[in-house]
Order: sequence, then C-alpha cells, then structure tokens
Amino acid sequence: MIYARIAGTGSYLPGDPVTNDDLVARGIDTSNDWIVSRSGIHSRHLAAADVGASDLAKLAAERALDAAGCEADDIDLIIVATSTPDFIFPSTAALVQSKLGIRNGGAAFDVQAVCSGFVYALSVAEKFIRSGSHTRALVIGAEVFSRILDWSDRSTCVLFGDGAGAVVLEASTSPGIRMSALHADGSHHPILCVPGGVASGQVIGDPFLRMDGQAVFKFAVKVLGDVAHEVLERAGESAQSVDWLIPHQANIRIIQATAKRLGLPMDKVVTTLDHHGNTSAASIPLALDEAVRSGQIRPGHRLILEGVGGGFTWGAALVDF
Ligand code: ACO
Repeated sequence: MIYARIAGTGSYLPGDPVTNDDLVARGIDTSNDWIVSRSGIHSRHLAAADVGASDLAKLAAERALDAAGCEADDIDLIIVATSTPDFIFPSTAALVQSKLGIRNGGAAFDVQAVCSGFVYALSVAEKFIRSGSHTRALVIGAEVFSRILDWSDRSTCVLFGDGAGAVVLEASTSPGIRMSALHADGSHHPILCVPGGVASGQVIGDPFLRMDGQAVFKFAVKVLGDVAHEVLERAGESAQSVDWLIPHQANIRIIQATAKRLGLPMDKVVTTLDHHGNTSAASIPLALDEAVRSGQIRPGHRLILEGVGGGFTWGAALVDF
C-alpha cells in the first residue's frame, strides 16, 4: 500500500510585521482595539510591490525541501494553492518550478479554492502519490492578498496578510494523510468574492475583495465543525486522538467556536493569526511550519488541518505527522 506523508515543512513571510497601529498611522480609519477584539489580529506581513506569490512560494519551498532533506530535482509534482497568482497564466506552480531550477518535466499546476486552497491542494497531491503516478510533491499555499484589498474598506483591509507555506509530500509505506474531505457550495459565492476580471485590456467589474463578514462568520463555524467531524468519523477516530488542530487562520472567534464544537481545548489548537493575519491559502502551511519549527508539533503527532473560504469551499485532512 502506498501512502502520502509529509516529509518536511517550510514557510516565508515578507518584510517586517505591520501592526494595527501602523495601519492607523497609514491613514486607515480603525483602531488596535477594534481589530484585536473583532478578529484577534495584532499584526501581519505585507509584500513589497515587486514581490509576487511565486517569489514567496519559492522561498517557502526551499525551506521545505531543506527540512525534507531532498533536492529540487527530486520533486515530480508541484501544486500551488493561490487566489493571487502572479499572472492569469502561466500558473504560479510553473513559475515556481522554473525559479527552483527544476528541469525534470514533472507536473505543475495551481489550485484555486481561496482559503481552503491548501487543503484542496494537499488532498489532490495525496491522490497523485497514492495512485503511484508521482512520488514526491511540493504542496504550497502562497498569497499576496494585499494586492486585492480595497484599502479604503476598513471592514476587510485590516484582516489579511501575505505569505507562503509549503510541505514536501512523499510516497511512504506508513500512513501520513489518513483521510481528507473536500466540499463546495457555489450558491454562497456572493458573500466572499473578488467579482472582477480582465477583458480587452480593461478590468471588468470590481477587482477588490468584498465580504459579508457576519454571513461568512456563521457559515465558517458550521462547516469547519462538520468537516472535522467527517474526517474523524470516516477514519474511525475520535477528537480525543487528535494532538493538534490547525485551522485556517481567519478570525480567533471562528477558531474558538470550531475547537469548542470538536471538544478540543484551545491549547491543542495552533494559532498564528495574531501575527500573520488571514493569509488565505497560505495560513495553514504557515501555521504548520511555525508549530513544527517551535517543537509544538513533533513526529507521531496526529493533526487535523482544515480550511474554509470563498466559493464557498471547505475541507479537512486528518494527518499523522
Ligand atoms: N475599524 C473600526 N470599525 C470598524 C472596522 C474597522 N476596521 N470595520 C468595521 N467597523 C465598524 C463598522 O463600520 C460598524 O460600525 P457601525 O456599527 O457604526 O455601522 C461596526 O464596526 C460593526 O461592524 P460589523 O461588520 O457588524 O462588525 P462585526 O462584529 O461583524 O465584525 C468581522 C466584522 C470582524 C469582519 C466579523 O464579521 C468576522 O469576523 N467575520 C468573519 C469574516 C472573516 O473572518 N473573514 C475572513 C475571510 S473569510 C475566510 O478566510 C474564511
């Protein structure tokens, strides 16, 4: 039996932290108290104008390769989860392959499932590996959400940050990813979207992120609880067997409500939201890498990774690390 196992993690955050007070100093009509009490966010990182998702992804990938003890040319599959690609095409994954100097003709493509993107990408990569078609994948979540924020809309611009996280996923004889579940309900697309596009050299529609915060909040709490229960049930496991929950880092109140629904204490939940903000598809691998490097997550630990985002999409993976 072939399984897919995480062999190494890496991440990258651009520049210095930008605090809530820094945002106030930049002219945004908000306050540290409002942002902390409504979201739990204290600071985030914002990429410089000439830095793209592929640059962040490449740096995170190099760290994951190093942690896994393998070379870039050992990778035969790259999947990048992003909603803020460098270009409409080629894919960010193809650019990352080039930036890593990989010339082995392996597959490379992007997955677009917004904040669930990393769980989607991980699940897709797992299926490639378990099928035997590929042996070692780079699965990356990389975002420059600062590019699609309307900095005059204080209800959204204070919530997001930029960054990238990556894992090397490789074929193994012992289980790593035990179970995954992916879902979508496109009928909810208006509550979180960037409803614009490009045609004939023009931006058509609205190029910025728009969100009905309260509707998103309610939806996220419901589906994150449901999908975590689903992967546990399908794997024949209970929440008590889980060492760490690594939820998408959108809002501390969503995370607390999800942990409560699972009956997990907050000291079993990895939270990096306070200093990363919401980095969409990058948030889960960023949190995972930080917890691995700090020694919180160790080999043998059982994890639930779960995300929810625009689409609406949601998903979870039960992982033996
Ligand atoms: N600073 C100060 N005041 C603000 C700000 C701000 N940055 N933003 C909004 N306000 C004001 C509003 O104008 C409003 O004022 P009013 O009462 O005078 O009209 C007041 O604060 C309350 O606004 P609400 O939108 O009702 O605030 P709410 O308590 O719902 O909190 C929030 C907003 C934080 C967005 C919340 O709804 C939420 O957490 N939703 C979840 C959404 C989320 O996390 N999205 C992340 C992306 S989705 C994802 O990753 C899954």
